[in-house]
Amino acid sequence: MSDVIVNAVDVTKVYRRGRVEVQALRSVSLQVKRGEIVGIMGPSGSGKTTLLNIIGGLDKPSSGRVFVDGVEITSLDEGKLAGYRLKRIGFVFQSYNLLPTLTALENVELPMALAGLPKAKRRERALKLLRMVGLEARAYHMPEELSGGEQQRVAVARALANNPSLVLADEPTGDLDSTSARGLMGLIEHLNRENRQTFIIVTHDPLVAERCSSVYHIRDGRIESL
Ligand SMILES: Nc1ncnc2c1ncn2[C@@H]1O[C@H](COP(=O)(O)OP(=O)(O)O)[C@@H](O)[C@H]1O
Ligand SMILES: [Mg+2]
Repeated sequence: MSDVIVNAVDVTKVYRRGRVEVQALRSVSLQVKRGEIVGIMGPSGSGKTTLLNIIGGLDKPSSGRVFVDGVEITSLDEGKLAGYRLKRIGFVFQSYNLLPTLTALENVELPMALAGLPKAKRRERALKLLRMVGLEARAYHMPEELSGGEQQRVAVARALANNPSLVLADEPTGDLDSTSARGLMGLIEHLNRENRQTFIIVTHDPLVAERCSSVYHIRDGRIESL
């Protein structure tokens, strides 16, 4: 297994709004080693989310190539990419994106159901994941009955459901108080140590950045050299 889990090579992204072009990423190259916790910081609009979405296969670059875990995801068709994303990549969104009509447990089970894991197995694993994030007692609660910190922990459990080698988090502590933010970082460090999972975390939060193994700064679509 290669030591490099993410290799982004000369990635550019141009969005077109009618006649207006927005250069969201300009020739970004980035290598992340397996087992790292990487922070990405930068002003609003600098291209952080675009970069994360391209690494996670949620968006396609205008040019450049992205390899994740040895697979060139920029050359996969939509069907293959969806399968790859489901099994190998976990996403934690700032706004949690839990499905409001499902319980915490069902939210965590969902990616496993999509991956075809039998019902008994996914229930068992979802409960284990909720226990790990300290929310077993909330398994049968609906998202709206949970605090922001609790919802974010459910979102982390869901991101881990299919045991991804890479977890991408977009401002995961953005809506959390500092105690919850510290708790979430503690959890991420634990997972990183125990499962050797790699994390890329977009953040504005110095408290998060100081706990990353490396931090990149992005400005105006470019990674700033340090
Ligand atoms: N779907 C889109 N269509 C057009 N422009 C977009 C789209 N998504 C992002 N942008 C633009 O690309 C730039 C980078 O956006 P984004 O990656 O979301 O920045 P950040 O996450 O750092 O705040 C911004 O100028 C934003 O307005
Ligand atoms: Mg963003």
